[in-house]
Parts: sequence; C-alpha cells; structure tokens
Amino acid sequence: MKVIERIAELRAALAPGDPAAFVPTMGNLHAGHLSLVRIAAEHGRPVIASIFVNRLQFGPSDDFERYPRTFERDVELLARAGCDYVFAPTESDLYPEPQVCFVHPRAALADTLEGRFRPGFFVGVCTVVLKLFNAVRPHVAVFGKKDYQQLLVVRDMVAQLALPVRILAGETVRETGGLALSSRNVYLDPRERAEAPRLSAVLQRIEQSINAGSTDWTRLEEAAAAELAAHGWRVDYVAVRRCADLGEPRAGSPLVALAAARLGHTRLIDNREIVDPAR
Ligand code: PAJ
Repeated sequence: MKVIERIAELRAALAPGDPAAFVPTMGNLHAGHLSLVRIAAEHGRPVIASIFVNRLQFGPSDDFERYPRTFERDVELLARAGCDYVFAPTESDLYPEPQVCFVHPRAALADTLEGRFRPGFFVGVCTVVLKLFNAVRPHVAVFGKKDYQQLLVVRDMVAQLALPVRILAGETVRETGGLALSSRNVYLDPRERAEAPRLSAVLQRIEQSINAGSTDWTRLEEAAAAELAAHGWRVDYVAVRRCADLGEPRAGSPLVALAAARLGHTRLIDNREIVDPAR
C-alpha cells in the first residue's frame, strides 16, 4: 500500500481507465470505516482511501482542532483491510489557496436536521467530496449510512452534477450494546460511554412502534427526545422522515428515524431505517 499526499502524484499513480473504488474519511479509523473499504474492494481496483480532516465542514465552535488524529495507526489498519492507496493530503495540498468556489447542495436535503444545527456543514462536505472525487476520479465511492443525511446529500450532488461515480452505501457498524462506532466516541468519559447506547435504543423503539402500526410521528419523536433529556442529553433533534428525501413521513413509505444529541461536550448522531413500516 502506498501513501500519497499530492494530487499530481496521485494522478500519476492511477491509470485514468482503472475502475478505482474510493472511501473518503477523516481518519481515526474504526471497524465502520474498514467495512466500507471491504465493500470498495468488492467493486473496484485499486482501492483508495483518503484521510483528511476537512476544516471547511467544521463550524467555529466545532472540534476541528481536537478532532482525533491517529495517522500511523490508520495507515496500518488500511493496509490490513486491503487498501491499495491512502490519499492523505495536507491542507496546503488540498487547499493551496483559500477555497472560494463551493458546492451548495439542495436546500431541502441539506438545510434540515444536521444542516439546521451545523450551518455550512454540507457545503463543506460537498465541496471537499467533489474535490476528492476530482483528485481520485473513482468509478465507485462508498459512504456509511451512519451519516444518513450526508449519504443522501452526496448522492444528490452526484446526480445534479452528472459526476461519473456510483455511490454505494455501507450499513452502520455498532458495538454490542448498539452504540454506532464513531471517531467522536473517544471523547466520552466512562459514565457517558455507559449512557451512549441510549441514542440507538430510543431509535430502535421508534422503529418498533412504527412497525407495530403507530403513525403519530410527533408523539414518537417527543417521547424519544424526552427520554434522552431525562438522562442528561441535550437533544438537537429526533425526527422521523422519509428515507428517499428526508421529507415529512407518510404511513407506508420507507422511513428513517434520525437523532443528534450531546452528552457532555460530545455530539453524537445516529439513525435507524424503518424500511417496511406497517401500512
Ligand atoms: P468520517 O466521519 O471519517 O466518516 C467516513 C465514512 O465512514 C463516512 O461515509 C461515514 O458515514 C462512515 N462511517 C462512520 N462511522 C461508521 C459506522 N459506524 N459504520 C459504517 N460507516 C461509518 O464522513 C466523513 O468522515 C466526512 O464528512 C467525509 C465524507 C470524509 C468528508 O470530509
């Protein structure tokens, strides 16, 4: 496996016709990221993973400076997972001058949920993802359902801009107790870590209620948010939406329950698809 920093070097290493498969990441890799690398390996060669903590997608009060950086270990894990190239640009490689051209994703998808609580987040994500796609020129790229809204926003950008890349989705990898793996889990102290699985648990209960026939979305959202708040979480949102476009839910259509909440200083997000709701 080869580690490459510069776009020109990456372009020289990759043959333009190769059906490259790409997994963009911000590093501090865990089994969730590695599951995406394995999916990539089933759909193309060479397999390229990027590691780049993208300043553009962090707000002024976000955790850019303290975001965990574990480069040596990440490279090791990627080599073992069957990755061929790690693209790890420095900020001056990817942003040699201040970025002034941005991708503004569809407002209906990107200004709700995460976009409401993290203004500019999806502009930063789309801009770096497009730039990474232009550097890597992948035939397929794999994104995790853990960041469900990001997956939909990227898919929509690809369709809108007719980018020649197929977006594949990987299932969320979880700990035994249900907590979704996340680079931010390292911020949790032992007490918070014990509490953290509640986020997936409340979403699972929403799924069960909907599968049992409930269509009172607001009551389900409020009950979940109240349970989290009662256990010390500061809830940004708990929302039941349509899988296809995050629109308001309708009985019988595939749904997804999404949540974001803070435990102490750590903001966690999770979601659960409800693909076969009772009619
Ligand atoms: P990062 O948070 O490092 O995540 C990289 C990819 O791993 C994303 O597609 C994310 O959805 C996926 N992922 C994270 N946790 C997962 C889990 N538990 N199971 C399965 N997949 C998981 O998302 C980003 O980086 C950035 O926004 C990026 C797309 C790289 C742009 O900067």
